[in-house]
Amino acid sequence: MEEASPIVNEDAAAAASTTQLGTYKTTVELVETAAEEILLLWALQQPTARRQNAFVRHSSQTLALDACGHRLTILQSPSSMSTPGVTGAVMWDSGIVLGKFLEHAFDSGTLSLHGKRVVELGAGCGLVGCIAALLGADVILTDLPDRLKLLKKNVDVNVGEGNKRGSARVTELEWGDDLDDEFFDPVPDIVLGSDVVYSEGAVEDLLTTLKQISGCHTTIFVAGELRNDAVLEYFLEGAMKEFLVGRIDQGQWHPDYCSDRVAIYVLAKK
Ligand SMILES: C[S@@+](CC[C@H](N)C(=O)[O-])C[C@H]1O[C@@H](n2cnc3c(N)ncnc32)[C@H](O)[C@@H]1O
Repeated sequence: MEEASPIVNEDAAAAASTTQLGTYKTTVELVETAAEEILLLWALQQPTARRQNAFVRHSSQTLALDACGHRLTILQSPSSMSTPGVTGAVMWDSGIVLGKFLEHAFDSGTLSLHGKRVVELGAGCGLVGCIAALLGADVILTDLPDRLKLLKKNVDVNVGEGNKRGSARVTELEWGDDLDDEFFDPVPDIVLGSDVVYSEGAVEDLLTTLKQISGCHTTIFVAGELRNDAVLEYFLEGAMKEFLVGRIDQGQWHPDYCSDRVAIYVLAKK
């Protein structure tokens, strides 16, 4: 069923200011206010009327994806999804979109990953971090303690010796907790998160970690599934207190991996 479009100020959309943020070498649309961003996104993309899980299958034990000249095999654990609170045992569309965006940006010369220090938050099955490592970055993939076993398996399978360009390792990081020194020495060049904005309760802790982990030269990429406008607005409001936030237009994504149910933001400290 078609959704009714919210009324949107076309002039506001047209007048959105653009800028370059962090080390991402292309201009992005600067988010001026969280409320206006939500209105624009939901009017222009009508996300909840679009097909969910276009690139993933949650009932499958594996997900195959070609990236960086390799066929990646991501192991999933569909049965774990019935455990309350477990969300990262399968892949989500925004992870596929963000991973393929990184590859596309790298190939287009708009994002350099070679030798960069990267941290992925809420890595789940780990596809995004694995792609960053295959593009030459030294990546720490992080998640809650009970999520690390599957994550480690996926890193071993996909960033093993044969495939190696950068490096990848897995460690625990619970948002909101004090961070170990390993995350500051040196400060990450890039922080990644896909589908990590999904409940108001988690947003506060996620923002605390984003603020702690990033320095003035850190570029953050967050890909969000557009399920809940209130949660995204809450995240953007909080993020904009500390960061400049830009939305990356779909024209800059991998052309085969675009979805109106997903938005990609780039953040850099003010
Ligand atoms: C919806 S899943 C997304 C997984 C993966 N990034 C993807 O796109 O497929 C959210 C991830 O965030 C992790 N997560 C949730 N709350 C967390 C917290 N407080 N600290 C660290 N990770 C958390 C979950 O374990 C899960 O892996």
